[in-house]
Amino acid sequence: MKTKTVFVCQNCGFNSPKWMGRCPGCSEWNTLVEEKEEAAPAEISFPPSKPVLYEEIKETQKERRKTGIEELNQVLGGGVVPGSLILIGGEPGIGKSTLILQVSKGFAARGERVLYVSGEESLEQIKLRGERLGIRKGDLYLLSETRLEKIIAHAEALKPQVLVIDSVQTIFSAGLSSGPGTISQVREVTNQVFRYAKVHTVPTFLIGHITKEGSLAGPKSLEHIVDVVLYFEGERDHSHRVLRALKNRFGPVSELAIFEMEGSGLKVITNPSAFFLRERPANEAGSIVVCTIKGARPLMAEIQALVSSTLFSGNPRRMTIGLDHFRTAMLLAIVEKKLGFSFAGEDVYLNVAGGLSIDEPAVDLGAIAAVVSSLKSKAVPPDVAVFGEVGLSGEIRSVSQPLLRAKEAASLGFKSVLLPAGNLSQMEKGAVSKIDLKGVKSVKEALDYIF
Ligand code: TYD
Ligand code: MG
Repeated sequence: MKTKTVFVCQNCGFNSPKWMGRCPGCSEWNTLVEEKEEAAPAEISFPPSKPVLYEEIKETQKERRKTGIEELNQVLGGGVVPGSLILIGGEPGIGKSTLILQVSKGFAARGERVLYVSGEESLEQIKLRGERLGIRKGDLYLLSETRLEKIIAHAEALKPQVLVIDSVQTIFSAGLSSGPGTISQVREVTNQVFRYAKVHTVPTFLIGHITKEGSLAGPKSLEHIVDVVLYFEGERDHSHRVLRALKNRFGPVSELAIFEMEGSGLKVITNPSAFFLRERPANEAGSIVVCTIKGARPLMAEIQALVSSTLFSGNPRRMTIGLDHFRTAMLLAIVEKKLGFSFAGEDVYLNVAGGLSIDEPAVDLGAIAAVVSSLKSKAVPPDVAVFGEVGLSGEIRSVSQPLLRAKEAASLGFKSVLLPAGNLSQMEKGAVSKIDLKGVKSVKEALDYIF
């Protein structure tokens, strides 16, 4: 048989007969790698299919299996659906193996047999991690193996009720000649594991590494194969980790869970708002609390601004961490035009405390208030929280879920919340108790009230 070679984009899977510097599929540079073109390996046979009467189809909700971490169950839509393939993506070192070993511990503790396959670490290394997580014994099997066919054979013999594969980039199928981690291998492994999960109705967790650029043998190209895609994110220097669903064939994608990495594994942060505000300085200029929404949850976060005269006249710095850079530039322009402040001779730094990143316009008003607070060296009263989108004419526009945001502020003891007048007018009187709601129509009105 004559083998042809093709050039395959390692980011998106685009195929080309000749090499190209830039992938036409995803516009990334230098992602095309030469791979041997091969016939698709023989299909594993599925059980015979037949049409089923609608009312005879079982609801999956009842069969969901709990992971032992309630927040993870919520992210999954209520638990793990039998036979589902769940991809967990994240940067190396973020805590994917830790999370899934904790999940394995939970299943095993309830007498469900788990097979944890690692292509990266030795059994001793995994056990070392297990010791930190407090795993003593249980129906938990570890397998150190990188050959897919062996893994499937072991799984077929052991008949685990939960399968874990860590990570998709290290496993390879003998049916393909390209190396582990290449896009064709990663896809083939995922396809075969998917079939295994479906045929044996075993829920399977597949771990995949992604870099910040998302390029390393991109699990991006696996998203359409698997049932659920979870992303585990966080800043390396911060202890909190956010787990959220990017795709879920069996549930919503709005839920997220926040964890903290501790010495004995990941702990759920049950009150994220309090967690992110715990080190907030009182009565310091440049700090304000915003009511934002992460996933489906309200979250109070601190925005910090520092405005200081620049050393680079004509080219002052504009630095943002955790907020959209372009949006911040626009907000500064609005403040200059509508309120008459000038930032021409000022460096402006904006940061969301705790390493959070917020990408919704509801934080506009908070960002502006923080900047003005720093510029005027006047602190925002510590018991005031704000939310609202700011338009180009300096008007405050309504945002989604105002009630949820206001209630979260009230529950944390804030005394007043500044919010878009449009949002307030739609809320029932007394909808949120123990807090003073102040509707504002323009940035000017808001700042007059705060300062
Ligand atoms: P790991 O789960 O190995 O990350 P990944 O599989 O995503 O590459 O864990 C990463 C980091 O977490 C590692 O630097 C050690 C740290 N860690 C803790 O701080 N506490 C713990 O209990 C464990 C198990 C790990
Ligand atoms: Mg790992």
